[in-house]
Parts: sequence; C-alpha cells; structure tokens
Amino acid sequence: MIKVGLLGLGTVGTGVVRIVEGHQEDLLRQTGSPISIERILVQDRAKMRTVSVDPTKLTEHAYDIIDDPGINVVIEVMGGIEPAKTYILAALEKGKHIVTANKDLMAMHGAEILAKAAEKGCDVFYEASVAGGIPIIRTLVEGFSSDRITKIMGIVNGTTNYILTKMSQEGAAYGEVLKEAQALGYAEADPTSDVEGLDAARKMTILATLGFHAQVSLQDVEVKGISQITKEDILYGSRLGYTVKLLGIAERQDDHISVSVQPTMVKHSHPLASVNGVFNAVYVYGEAVGETMFYGPGAGELPTATSVVADLVAVVRNLKLGVNGRETFVPYKEKKLKSDEQ
Ligand code: NAP
Ligand code: HSE
Repeated sequence: MIKVGLLGLGTVGTGVVRIVEGHQEDLLRQTGSPISIERILVQDRAKMRTVSVDPTKLTEHAYDIIDDPGINVVIEVMGGIEPAKTYILAALEKGKHIVTANKDLMAMHGAEILAKAAEKGCDVFYEASVAGGIPIIRTLVEGFSSDRITKIMGIVNGTTNYILTKMSQEGAAYGEVLKEAQALGYAEADPTSDVEGLDAARKMTILATLGFHAQVSLQDVEVKGISQITKEDILYGSRLGYTVKLLGIAERQDDHISVSVQPTMVKHSHPLASVNGVFNAVYVYGEAVGETMFYGPGAGELPTATSVVADLVAVVRNLKLGVNGRETFVPYKEKKLKSDEQ
C-alpha cells in the first residue's frame, strides 16, 4: 500500500482525491500497488468541501503528515512560496517523495528543492506546474532528450486566455470574465499573477530551464500582462486579421537565452490564434524534430489533477523499481543570459 499525504484540498486537491478514488483499479494496474490518501492538510477543517472525505483524515497541522513515518509520498497543492517550501524541504528531509503543482515555488526555488531531493534520494515531480493537463514537462525532458531545442513558445495561462477569448468572441467585460475564471477555479489565489503575466513567466522559466538545460532565472524574463488590453484593442486587431494572445516566448541562440511574456497580435491563420478559452498550447522547435505543438486544458480541477496523479504513478513505479528521479530533472548548467550583458 502506498500512503499519500495531500497538502491542500482546493481546486487541484479535490481533483486529486476524485481521481485517486475513482481510478483505483486503473492505478493498481499501472503501479501494482493500492494507493491511499491517508491525511489531508487544510487551513480550515470546518469548511464545506465539494468532495466527500473522511473528516478524520483532515488536519490543520502539516507535521501530522511530514512526521508520519508511514507516508511515502507528499503531494503539495496548497500553492504559494511559504509555508509550502518549508513543508516540502521538511518532507524531503524525512525521505518522502514529492509531487507538486506549484510553479511559483519551482520557478523560484526549484534548484534548491531538486538539490535536496537528490541528496535524499527522493523524487520531485512537477508536471502540473505548467500547462495543466498537457504533459509538457515529461515531453521536454524525455521526449526531446535526443534533440537540441531552440524555441519554446505558447499560451501557458488558462485564465488570461479565457478572458481574452470571452472579450474577443462575446465582447464581455474584462472584470466580469476574470470573476468567472476565478469561480471556475482557473485563477491563482491572487489573480494578479495571472493577469499581469507573472504566472506565465514562472511557467516559461520552468520550460526554458528544462528545454535549454540552463538555470533560467525568473528575473531574466521580460513580463507584460493583459490588464491594460481593451475591447477596442481586440476589435481593432481582429479587423486587421489578428487575435490578441498572451504569449510566452523562450529562445536560445548559441549561448544566449531570452524569455518573455507579452500580449501579442497573432495572425488569424496561425494555430495559436484558435487556442480558445482555458486551453493552452505549447509550440516546441527542435533542431532535429522541427516544429511540434501540444494542446490541451491549461487549468481546472480534473485536467490539472490528471497531471498530478500521473506524477504520483511515476513515483510509485520508481519506488517499486528501487530507482529515483528522472536524472534529467536535476543537472542544470549555467548559460549566459541576455541580461548578463546589460
Ligand atoms: P486553492 O483552490 O486555493 O486550494 C489551496 C488549498 O490549500 C486549500 O485547500 C487550502 O485550505 C490549502 N491551504 C492553503 N494554504 C494553506 C496553509 N498555509 N496551511 C494549510 N492549508 C493551506 O488552490 P488550487 O487552485 O487548488 O491550486 C493549488 C496549486 O496548484 C497552486 O500552486 C496552483 O498554482 C497550482 N495549479 C493550479 C491549477 C488550477 O487550475 N487551479 C492548475 C495548475 C496548477 P482550505 O481549503 O482550508 O482553505
Ligand atoms: N492560474 C493558472 C492558469 C492555473 O490560469 O493557467 C494553471 O496553472
């Protein structure tokens, strides 16, 4: 029996409970082990939940999970930097494997967390941190391990794509659609990070770090969000044959890497122009493979939880094989960034 401690029972945590419980037989077939969510950390045990859980599993004390020697895997879906970072490092110290959906943490402190995991012989997987239900991290790290990637570009924030789509197709007001995206569970706890492009910048930092085998720093990403985009901008662009999209673009040329996030006029005929609503798409260019594109839901309860639970399956398989990690997640080598020259 694999015992899991879940940190967080919000949008993503709820999806994780539903998938682990609803797909027990499939997970058993995939891993050869029954999986049980033993304890769940929440802020408020008395809060109404949208999924039925045994109330004795809920705790407001993270160390009930971290210090429990029976728990093999900790899934962190609470969000934010602290206390999530402290809890993850403490769980690694105790030899627990980690699955997280936390892009803020992995973009800013990923190297430290992965170094601790390597020291302790533990896995840290974070597929859900970028592009929700699209397995893009696995694809970059494993699928393209034979190639040299020179460009990663895409729509990596579901909330802003949902807002821009509704403004463009229905003439909806920015503030109203943002509220809808929050109610649907797409937006971050503080939606400023979505609309000002920071969430996308964190995701592009992770993708560029993995795709280019370089430690890309969030500070090196040029960021502009969509909060200043008006219905008129969208209408005017459309008349000229363009759709406004919040695009993340990461490129490398020789030893130089540039990463940016900004609203961009995309030609109606370009495949990224027809990525609508909460959907994301990531275009990857590799020198050998050429152009590839990956498309799917970028946020939301079950799509995101699909990625989280797939990471859990990977951890359990590793546990059974007695191996740790995908080596390629760890070794970063320093690359010169454009900002180093300024
Ligand atoms: P959420 O709905 O706000 O849920 C957060 C959960 O964590 C809640 O259950 C909350 O407890 C608990 N929590 C937060 N701070 C806590 C603390 N200090 N101590 C104990 N419990 C705490 O967040 P979410 O949308 O599920 O997102 C979780 C993570 O997944 C974030 O890192 C986010 O960026 C990432 N993510 C989200 C999506 C998405 O579509 N939502 C997609 C990809 C990645 P209470 O319930 O008691 O308040
Ligand atoms: N707030 C994020 C988004 C959640 O809208 O894309 C998925 O990472």
